[in-house]
Amino acid sequence: MEDFYHTSTREVNGQMVAFFGVFDGHGGARTAEYLKAHLFNNLIGHPDFITDTRTAIVQSFKQTDENYLSDAKGNQKDAGSTALTAVLIGDRLFLANVGDSRAVACKSGSAVPLSVDHKPDRSDERQRIEKAGGFIIWAGTWRVGGVLAVSRAFGDKLLKPYVVADPEIQEEDVEGVEFLIIASDGLWNVVNNKDAVNLVREIPDAEEASRRLVEEAYARGSSDNITCLVVRFGIS
Ligand SMILES: *[C@@H]1O[C@H](CO)[C@@H](O)[C@H](O)[C@H]1NC(C)=O
Repeated sequence: MEDFYHTSTREVNGQMVAFFGVFDGHGGARTAEYLKAHLFNNLIGHPDFITDTRTAIVQSFKQTDENYLSDAKGNQKDAGSTALTAVLIGDRLFLANVGDSRAVACKSGSAVPLSVDHKPDRSDERQRIEKAGGFIIWAGTWRVGGVLAVSRAFGDKLLKPYVVADPEIQEEDVEGVEFLIIASDGLWNVVNNKDAVNLVREIPDAEEASRRLVEEAYARGSSDNITCLVVRFGIS
C-alpha cells in the first residue's frame, strides 16, 4: 500500500483546528509516509497559520518538500507523493491540492469539486513545465519527462523543477457543506464525483460510507491503491 491518510484535531491559539489529508505515493511509500508524519505539524507550527492560512499552507508545503528532499530518505530519487489536505479553522475550510487526489463536496445535494487534478496535459500545467525547460510525452498516458502521470508532487527529486509541490488552494464556508470526500485516484479513476456523492448521501455514518466507496471502486475494477476519507459537517 502506497496511500496514506491522516486525520486529527488540535487546539491552536484557542481555536479548534481539524486536519484531513490523503497522500498517494508512487515509487514506494516513503514520501507519502513522510507527509503523514510531518505536513500537518509543519503547517500548524507556521507563525501565520491562523492569521494568514493560505500563505502558511503554501510555505509549509514548500518547506516540507525541501526538508524531505534533504532528508536521507528523499535521496531515493524516484519516490514521490500527492497531497490533498483540508484544514478546518472555525467555519472556514481550506483545501490544498498537489497532484491528482481529489476533494469533492456535497452542497445542496450536488457534487461540487473542491480541487482540480494536476495532470500533465492540463494546458496551464503543460505551459508551466515547458517554460521551466521540461516536456511531457505520451507513454500510455501523458507523462512529465515520459515518466510521471501527475504534474505536481512532493519528492520526485529527478523531476524538479518541473514537478513541484506548490499547492492550489480553495477556501469554502463550511456552512452549506453537507459532507466532503477526499480520495486518491484509485477511487476517481472508476467512480465519478456525482456517483460518489450519491452513494455517500445514502449512508449516515461517515466511516461506513468511506468503506462503501472503497468497495465500490474495487467492484468497478480499480487496480490502484484506493483511499477515501468522508467528513460530515453536522446538519445542513
Ligand atoms: C498498492 O499499489 C502497489 C503499487 O501499484 C501494489 O504493488 C500493491 O499491491 C497495492 N496494494 C493494494 C493493497 O492494493
